[in-house]
Amino acid sequence: MQVIHTVSELRQRLSTEASVAFVPTMGNLHAGHLDLVRIARQHASCVVVSIFVNPLQFGANEDFGKYPRTLQADCDKLAATGEVIVFAPGEADMYPQPQQITVEPPPIAQELCGAFRPGHFRGVATVVLKLFNMVQPQVAVFGKKDYQQLHVVRQMTAQLNLALEIVGAETLRAADGLALSSRNQYLSAAERTEAVFLYQTLTNMRKSLQNGPQDYAKLEHDAVVALSARGWQVDYVAIRAQSSLAVPVPGERELVVLAAARLGATRLIDNLEVCL
Ligand code: PAJ
Repeated sequence: MQVIHTVSELRQRLSTEASVAFVPTMGNLHAGHLDLVRIARQHASCVVVSIFVNPLQFGANEDFGKYPRTLQADCDKLAATGEVIVFAPGEADMYPQPQQITVEPPPIAQELCGAFRPGHFRGVATVVLKLFNMVQPQVAVFGKKDYQQLHVVRQMTAQLNLALEIVGAETLRAADGLALSSRNQYLSAAERTEAVFLYQTLTNMRKSLQNGPQDYAKLEHDAVVALSARGWQVDYVAIRAQSSLAVPVPGERELVVLAAARLGATRLIDNLEVCL
């Protein structure tokens, strides 16, 4: 395993590689991230994992300061999976000057998480495009855990004619169903026990949707009420079309149920695809 901190070193190291598969992360790696690395290996001889906590995608009152930075432990976990290049740039390498040129994501990025995290997807799209230009991979792997992020990255890749394939990977979950996330460690023991209710809410909604025609607005509302009654502060629960993330048109069969809610100070997101 090799750890590289600068863009020039990275370019030099990758210049002789025939094919590169890329997994962008913010570190504090868990089994979900490592699964993306496993999938990346199926696509190229060389795998690059970036670790960079991107200030551009955090709001002023969000957890940029306390986001766990665990580079050594991350490298140990990656080394145990096989050969990999870790790209861990410093902030000055990523943003040597103020980032005045940014990627404006499509309008859908203002909805769902974007409605509660203004500028978040602009920050994500901008750093992902910069990382793509630095690594120049043929394939990049993203988790469906961040469904809206995956959608924005796919749209950016298509609309800006980027020469790479985006691969979406299934969400890895704990035994009780909670989606693995670096933010789960913010949860107290009691909150961790409660956290699974978000996933249960989504699975209940999936069951209802598969039972026959439903009033989507009512299903969403009932889920918000159920979560709120248990002490969650709900940002949204939404039934959308998988391909566009738009409100489903009548007859739409490929759906995704997405939710974001806070338990104490911790904001959790999750989603489930539902095919009717
Ligand atoms: P981060 O939250 O570290 O996630 C890195 C990648 O891991 C993302 O593609 C995310 O969807 C995926 N991931 C997270 N939890 C997962 C799980 N339980 N199962 C499968 N995949 C999972 O997402 C980011 O970082 C950043 O926004 C980034 C794209 C790196 C840009 O800064």
